[in-house]
Amino acid sequence: MKFFIDTANLEQIKEAAELGVLDGVTTNPSLMAKEGIKGEENVLKHYITICNLVDGPVSAEVISTDFAGMVKEGEKLAALHKNIVVKVPMIKEGIKAIKYFSDKGIKTNCTLVFSAAQALLAAKAGATMVSPFIGRIDDTNWDGMELIAQIVHIYRVHGYKTEVLAASIRSSLHILKCAEAGADIATCPLKSITDLFNHPLTKSGLEQFLADHAKVNG
Ligand code: E4P
Repeated sequence: MKFFIDTANLEQIKEAAELGVLDGVTTNPSLMAKEGIKGEENVLKHYITICNLVDGPVSAEVISTDFAGMVKEGEKLAALHKNIVVKVPMIKEGIKAIKYFSDKGIKTNCTLVFSAAQALLAAKAGATMVSPFIGRIDDTNWDGMELIAQIVHIYRVHGYKTEVLAASIRSSLHILKCAEAGADIATCPLKSITDLFNHPLTKSGLEQFLADHAKVNG
């Protein structure tokens, strides 16, 4: 399973990249706004900066909601860097845009997916990746992980090439469960990735090893 980081924060992207386990980045308009990135020129520059930090797919989301607007924006984004993946919302116009981009060889990430029906449609349209938002589903007292497993099953049975990119991850357990369910990618906050290191027995075991070593070596 590939690990993406879900942020527009450059320091966090650098930190995750330095771990050597980072395969890509996802952003969205809320994450860009959180970093105070505003104005088209700055937004585009920020995407290029991210692309120069990580050698892997970088999702950049369109903000238009009509076909013509999405196409115009998406083509501009895709021209920024070879690693840009145009992130398109799961709406009727978005599906048309995904099909258009797919025919042109432009990579897409279909975002805001909350059902297997939506994921099926995104794959039919030729989306490169599909983003089911598991944390937000959990918030509605439904199990987001069931959706990941359902989409993985449908894509495997029918041979769709669309990658399942588990999004809206809230914990290291989510990452683990996504791996079990067969997700191709998990896009995660930095903390969920670094929490994967943690185990109390690793901590106490290492302390003991170092203490024993110090006893005889001084
Ligand atoms: C996906 O690409 C989205 O950016 C993201 O995972 C949404 O997560 P949230 O529910 O924590 O906002």
